[in-house]
Amino acid sequence: MVASTVSPPWTYTLQLPQDPRAPGVARATLRNVLRVHGMHELTEVAELLASELVTNAYLYSSGPYSLRLRDAGRGRVRLSVWDTDPRIPAPFRWGMPPPEELAERGRGLYLVTLYAECWGAYPMRGGLPGQGGKLLWVECAAKV
Ligand SMILES: Nc1ncnc2c1ncn2[C@@H]1O[C@H](COP(=O)(O)OP(=O)(O)O)[C@@H](O)[C@H]1O
Ligand SMILES: [Mg+2]
Repeated sequence: MVASTVSPPWTYTLQLPQDPRAPGVARATLRNVLRVHGMHELTEVAELLASELVTNAYLYSSGPYSLRLRDAGRGRVRLSVWDTDPRIPAPFRWGMPPPEELAERGRGLYLVTLYAECWGAYPMRGGLPGQGGKLLWVECAAKV
């Protein structure tokens, strides 16, 4: 039997635990989703973006976090990472100059803002359990 296909936009959401293996699981899932949906050429950049955001959520928040993958149309994928910490890191609030040459930290999100087509952030407010924190999103597109 031939597998049926769904019409876009598709969405996948991966709930991630506070476990050092979680960012790797997120990358593997992302690769699979892009392959299955014929967006293989986005893998390299999408993996860099997802890896930075998911690793930061693991490192700088203490609760569960999640990665959502969505077909953003026009050959783009949108990656959204939610975590329970309400602080929105500086580059996602006002952009960021390049880090100092000898800086040991702060390169990840700078690269994210360079490689993403567009990006944004918003606080997640609301009364339901599991809400709160913030969501950082980026989109990446195939180079033409
Ligand atoms: N999800 C997050 N929640 C809260 N703070 C964050 C988050 N992601 C990044 N930050 C803050 O922004 C800083 C810069 O992040 P980044 O550019 O990835 O560099 P690095 O992870 O090497 O410090 C981090 O050191 C941290 O203080
Ligand atoms: Mg980082």
